[in-house]
Amino acid sequence: MESFLIKGGVPLQGEVTVSGSKNAALPILAATLLTEEPCVIRRVPDLSDTRFMAQILASLGARVEFVRGAVTVHAQKIQGYADYELVRKMRGSICIAGPLLARLRQARISLPGGCIIGARPINLHLKGFQALGAKIKIEGGYVNATAKCLVGNSLFLGGRAGPTVLGTANVMMAATLADGVTVIESAACEPEVVDLAKFLNAMGAQISGAGSPTITIAGVKKLHGAEHEVIPDRIEAATFLIAAGATNGEVILKGARADHLHAVIDKLGDAGVSVTRRGLDLIARRRGGLMPVDITTLPYSGFPTDVQAQMMSLLSLAPGLSIITERIFESRFMHVSELARLGADIEIEGPSAIVKGGRPLSGAPVMASDLRASAALVIAGLAAKGATQVNRIYHLDRGYEQMDAKLRKLGARIRRVEEKT
Ligand code: EPZ
Repeated sequence: MESFLIKGGVPLQGEVTVSGSKNAALPILAATLLTEEPCVIRRVPDLSDTRFMAQILASLGARVEFVRGAVTVHAQKIQGYADYELVRKMRGSICIAGPLLARLRQARISLPGGCIIGARPINLHLKGFQALGAKIKIEGGYVNATAKCLVGNSLFLGGRAGPTVLGTANVMMAATLADGVTVIESAACEPEVVDLAKFLNAMGAQISGAGSPTITIAGVKKLHGAEHEVIPDRIEAATFLIAAGATNGEVILKGARADHLHAVIDKLGDAGVSVTRRGLDLIARRRGGLMPVDITTLPYSGFPTDVQAQMMSLLSLAPGLSIITERIFESRFMHVSELARLGADIEIEGPSAIVKGGRPLSGAPVMASDLRASAALVIAGLAAKGATQVNRIYHLDRGYEQMDAKLRKLGARIRRVEEKT
């Protein structure tokens, strides 16, 4: 297993280009199952998650080529049941269910199960499929969704924590080939949902309202092949903006979409990290000392839960009290105890973490527990004095393309090493 060895204390300087979005690419790759014609998806980040999705599509019978960020999928002849272990390994693969149900009227996939950040049920996905007329049976660890035909319907898809991103994606994809019109209320408004709708419309779907809480899908008989370029990864972009602030550096971000980052840029400004635009680039730099800030994670366009951990690393450096409240996932504070190893002073109280910031961090061996927690530990290691070893970086490789190489380009002293067992 690999780790990152980081020698901290170097202000990041220079330019870095943002990769394509993992969370847009995964449902878009799944959507290629909706047609028997070839599709080409560009700017797909080369990550273990996108490679997994390519494997899953191939296991269903599609021909898949992954060449330098362009993925060609030809799902001419496919089956409706996926390999149990493959799907179980990656939660995001749940979004093959909608396309399989739409095209084959049958989808049999393993239940995703919970993960370290929360229980993550799929009741809303299944509620959506049932509203379109599907029969759902859960048996032997599998979800079996079948339908004689899918019929458009109006449904409310809001849950305990508000809208569901992949639930909206799944129901939207299932509705593209249904008879009649489907209206999804309390739909997720994330840019990744908008990007998926754009690709589906390029395939001949009739979707309107994506990006708003009400999405309307007029079902069509058939979809055709299409080409699409995935949006840039706003979570990767936010991670680099925060790293610039935490190391008191100056980073030019190329290819990021500022309009996807309003909540993050706003909170960074409050914390003393200015993010300015120059043409299509974003420039992050500190404006003097860091300041404490309160944050509550919310569905888009609120502050993203996928940036909560990274922001906690920054705020552990800001003198004063910051309160971070996690409203989306019930156990997304795994990074707190590891940040404490680096000297951070953070207490958890229910859904909130109380950060008493300002204490300098010092390097130590730490353990990554999930994708965004690992990014937070890398940022803290870059800001800390001395050496930090971040273990189990396979979590990071799931969602960040060549993070160490990009950071080295910005002057960071970071290298990938074999974990000492
Ligand atoms: C997507 O997950 C992202 N993953 C997550 O990013 C992200 O954290 C999340 O959206 C929220 O923004 C991908 O796009 C692959 P949800 P998703 O359904 O769709 C509850 C990362 O770091 N819920 O919007 O699975 C759920 O438990 C990952 O890249 C139900 O109760 O998240 C959660 O509390 C982590 N029933 C809330 O809704 C359901 O049927 C939001 O989850 C579905 C969800």
